Amino acid sequence: MDKQKKIVEMFDVIAPSYDLANRVLSFGIDIGWRKEGCKRTLERIGKNQGLKVLDVACGTGDMIAHWQTQLQCSEFIGIDPSKGMLEIAQKKIQNCTFIEAQAQNLPLEDESMDIISIAYGLRNVCEYPLALKEFYRVLKKGGVLLILEFMHNPNPSFFDSLGLFYTQKVLPLLGGWISKNKQAYAYLPDSIKDFASVDELRGQLENIGFSHIFSKSYHAKISSIFVASKEK
Ligand SMILES: C[S@@+](CC[C@H](N)C(=O)[O-])C[C@H]1O[C@@H](n2cnc3c(N)ncnc32)[C@H](O)[C@@H]1O
Repeated sequence: MDKQKKIVEMFDVIAPSYDLANRVLSFGIDIGWRKEGCKRTLERIGKNQGLKVLDVACGTGDMIAHWQTQLQCSEFIGIDPSKGMLEIAQKKIQNCTFIEAQAQNLPLEDESMDIISIAYGLRNVCEYPLALKEFYRVLKKGGVLLILEFMHNPNPSFFDSLGLFYTQKVLPLLGGWISKNKQAYAYLPDSIKDFASVDELRGQLENIGFSHIFSKSYHAKISSIFVASKEK
């Protein structure tokens, strides 16, 4: 079976325990990372109503829930290829259109969205450079892309290695135990090691045409955010 199909099937299987595992494994700290990402994106856009917001790899809908607390009179779309994750999102989130699709082939028109977010999803897209191009195509001029992700850290400091110990050793054990699916959480550290570093992703965004790229890494560089604009 191809790698992308296997990844999506894995999310189908862990969907019922995904939210619990997420909150326990991040000690709720991910809520702060998500909030800061939304805040910085909205500061960049300069308004908080009448926006079209697309959350890609929306999973069980956590990012859409954050956007909905920040935005009034706006339209929300969540895209994910996992039926299992989408089923949970649909039960949790109102006033959002959910579509089963992949990031590298978005079923949306050119220049149709004000904001695109992808939280802890890009690493799971095998052909992620194609997804970045899709985000650029679908964003309106002046639109903003928000990425939250666990990035590969090729030169960890002593302090960073504490974060790496957590993501590479503790998290797979705890996640495997909560989800009763060791394989799914063993995949997590491997997917981080195989993914881009902060500098590499910044370069890729620049090459596609994104500008004003802001990035920041948190908590021993465990998680990073990127905010990037499509020029007006
Ligand atoms: C770690 S979860 C993140 C879910 C959610 N964004 C969150 O912040 O909790 C990763 C998600 O990426 C989705 N995914 C996997 N491959 C994808 C692809 N090719 N395109 C879009 N999403 C994908 C999975 O189905 C899963 O829901």
